[in-house]
Amino acid sequence: MKRTKILELMKTDESLDKVLIKGWVRTRRDAKEFSFIEVNDGSCLKNMQVIADSDLKNYDAVKKLSTGSAVAITGRMVQSKGGGQKWEIQADAIQILSLAADAYPLQKKRHSDEFLRTIAHLRPRTNKYGAAFRIRSELAYAIHKFFRDRGFVYIHSPIITGSDCEGAGELFRVTTLDPDNIPLKEGQPDFEQDFFGMQANLTVSGQLSAEMFALALGDVYTFGPTFRAENSNTRRHAAEFWMVEPEMAFCDLQGNMDLGEELVKYLVSFIMDACKADLELFARFVDKKLMPTLENIAASEFIRLPYIEAVKILNRSNQKFTYDISFGKDLQTEHERYLTEQQFKKPVIVYDYPRNIKPFYMRLNDDRITVAAMDVLVPSIGEIIGGSQREERLDVLESQMVESEIETTDYWWYLDARRFGTVEHSGFGLGFERILMLVTGISNIRDVIPFPRTPKNIEF
Ligand code: 4AD
Ligand code: MG
Repeated sequence: MKRTKILELMKTDESLDKVLIKGWVRTRRDAKEFSFIEVNDGSCLKNMQVIADSDLKNYDAVKKLSTGSAVAITGRMVQSKGGGQKWEIQADAIQILSLAADAYPLQKKRHSDEFLRTIAHLRPRTNKYGAAFRIRSELAYAIHKFFRDRGFVYIHSPIITGSDCEGAGELFRVTTLDPDNIPLKEGQPDFEQDFFGMQANLTVSGQLSAEMFALALGDVYTFGPTFRAENSNTRRHAAEFWMVEPEMAFCDLQGNMDLGEELVKYLVSFIMDACKADLELFARFVDKKLMPTLENIAASEFIRLPYIEAVKILNRSNQKFTYDISFGKDLQTEHERYLTEQQFKKPVIVYDYPRNIKPFYMRLNDDRITVAAMDVLVPSIGEIIGGSQREERLDVLESQMVESEIETTDYWWYLDARRFGTVEHSGFGLGFERILMLVTGISNIRDVIPFPRTPKNIEF
């Protein structure tokens, strides 16, 4: 007999004579003549309640079923007499697939997020984390659907690269050189002898590759893992995270902001619609204001605010900030959150940032002091998207690179794109974990990644 997932059974509207479920015991309690077993199989939040009668052949063993044990249960699915659930299974047979040892650390009480991070291998078996990772999967699907419906081509940009797109030097090196015996050339490591014959690192962004493909296929996007060796222990930074990066030919900064706004609203609406039951858990137990926040984001027109105006608002705000803000300084999370949470109470797109705080590839504005950059800021997180119109003029790009002390010869192929049919083009990066934090109300990035990588943390 084939097993049926609990999600499917819960959708059924008539009783079934014979079903087989397989899953893990969440709880068991004994009554006089029978035992109640709550089984979860991960297909949905709901457990299936199973009634095990004392006349079952292996009832003695059933009575010893511990939380976390794996079972296969056949029986009749009938309307539940008790409250709380629509269906229950009257078991004909309970096969104990494996008995969990008593040391199983997940018990019925609520565990703290901090504790659950220490058992990251077991936390998907809790309601909260099961729901979070089902939503993560739906969100990934929604991203592909969004772009596919709009004619974007999905590009697999490389994970190992020789470039540093953001120019910030936060690179994880990739090498096969022996650390105890690094070959030297004029006192420096000789990377010519390394695997790739030059320095290599894990990618910090797929953008440079995406640009090459946008200038061939028009509208493209990448969606994959990115790596940053920034030593920041914040709730919104991870060393390994996923980024969604659309890149569009014949598109300026306005069109770029339009797409960013459309994407965020689409993803929020998609999850509100596709993950109702799982979202309800977050709205009840994690963030009481989650649903109004999401409805507000889906329905509102995002504010568009030049950086210089943002600085003025922040300085006029009478708010005590840890970091000063003035023209030429980057916005800190506290500033971003003030703008979106206090000042406007909805998402804000800040654009035209000073060139000195942004990477070399952003298009220089006519004022020559700002670049055509844009960041989308959302409540409780701050920056969720960072993007720009790209510098398509060869001479301007070259001089920006020289100014940023980037070797133009290393990026010959990137510059080639400006030699052969260069056009106006734009794109952005959306932090996948950050949008997942937004839609679930989960406040720490470590809790939306199956096995998070942060400084001093790679146990699992
Ligand atoms: O603003 P960032 O650094 O932009 C880029 O990398 C561009 N090359 C993207 C592009 O234009 N194609 O990163 C983009 C987004 C941020 O807004 C943030 O949401 C997320 O990626 N992000 C991180 N998420 C988690 N942990 C980190 N350490 C992150 N760094 C950036
Ligand atoms: Mg950024």
